[in-house]
Amino acid sequence: TRPIVIAPSILSSDFSRLGEEVAAVDRMGADWIHLDVMDGHFVPNITFGPPIVKAIRASSAKVFDCHLMIAPCDPYIEAFADAGCDIITVHAEATTHLDRSLQAIKATGRRAGVALNPSTPESVIQYVLDRLDLVLLMTVNPGFGGQAFIPSVVDKIRRVKAMIGDRPIDIEVDGGVTPETAPLVVAAGANALVAGSAVFKGGTPEHYERNMAAIRDA
Ligand code: DX5
Ligand code: ZN
Repeated sequence: TRPIVIAPSILSSDFSRLGEEVAAVDRMGADWIHLDVMDGHFVPNITFGPPIVKAIRASSAKVFDCHLMIAPCDPYIEAFADAGCDIITVHAEATTHLDRSLQAIKATGRRAGVALNPSTPESVIQYVLDRLDLVLLMTVNPGFGGQAFIPSVVDKIRRVKAMIGDRPIDIEVDGGVTPETAPLVVAAGANALVAGSAVFKGGTPEHYERNMAAIRDA
């Protein structure tokens, strides 16, 4: 079993003080920093791109876990690698040639992940397992923070866990993760927990510390 990782999504942070917010969750116990990149095309919302990632890179030495919700994704992989992302995750639904996209990530020397929407069957990763460092299972439809956890994905976590066997692949869950839902996903086999609103609620570093501890303790 792989170590439990808490990855705050800065989507729920105060964007006017992004560098400070990243430094605050780093100091208060984040393992990874989760970066939600949205293009207004693959998902109905727009966030930020490589220049912002590059700007906040100086605020934390922790793993930058980049979740690309963009289509196409291949033309931007190198730019996100150069901006300082350590893990680059593409959506299976956003690329016609998933194997090629994963090879492009590996060619940058970064860790490669694939994300699946709640309705996407886990079978799409079957023939790329040996290229993967991470599988990101969405427990909300991507695009916004603060949505309700979709419980049917818990069964998919179990199936993915069985598929990966003893390969060194992280199973990450993203969307509606709280102290209430965290135990369900960990029991099913997830080890990396993304949380946006559940970490940033309260708005001060002391809140972030308590919020992350509550998820970890759960
Ligand atoms: C949704 C993003 C998530 C989101 C999670 O499209 O991928 O990372 O920020 O937010 P919460 O934890 O509030 O559901
Ligand atoms: Zn995300």
